[in-house]
Amino acid sequence: MRKIIGISGSLRRQSLNAALLHAAIDLAPPGFTIEIGSIQDIPLYNFDVEQSAYPAAVTALKEQIVAADGLLLVTPEYNNSLPGVFKNAIDWLSRPPADAPRIFRQRPVAVIGASPGNYGTMLSQSAWLPVLRTLGTRPWFGSPIYVAQAAKVFDAEGKLIDATVRERLHKYLQGFAEFIG
Ligand code: FNR
Repeated sequence: MRKIIGISGSLRRQSLNAALLHAAIDLAPPGFTIEIGSIQDIPLYNFDVEQSAYPAAVTALKEQIVAADGLLLVTPEYNNSLPGVFKNAIDWLSRPPADAPRIFRQRPVAVIGASPGNYGTMLSQSAWLPVLRTLGTRPWFGSPIYVAQAAKVFDAEGKLIDATVRERLHKYLQGFAEFIG
């Protein structure tokens, strides 16, 4: 069984992006499981902390990623760009620089996202590209998943209720699985 680590870039309980990640888990392609990686306990990046008390939450997430075959970033969009809390987590994962290739280099990465607005995280997903390039990842560019007007796509319990989005997500994940190989 191959494994994808999915990380939601939102900390809130009723997160649309966490709901999207749960939908992806339900639609995992045959032979794959999607496991949740959490950024919940990752502190704000601080070089002094990196040197004196490296956060256990970062180490745990690193090892989860290293043990997986692919990484799925489920990103909100803030101010037409990527959310600071999510970038902060990825920045921690890239430290120290000597360890970053172990986590990211040549790692298959896919980015999807949901927002209540009309563009469904299009600009946020684009904003991730220079980060993914800098880290030397192997990004997957399937037909993109921009979940717009996401408040209508999930019900009050966070269940995906839009058949079109489900089908697109299903195909996207199959493509990502083939890309991982
Ligand atoms: C937003 N939101 C937002 N949405 C969007 O489509 N484009 C944007 O530029 C922004 N900007 C923005 C800035 C800040 C600071 C916040 C807090 C929010 C709305 C955002 O998409 C909405 O809150 C989502 O519900 C966030 O994702 P989760 O938490 O539901 O996963």
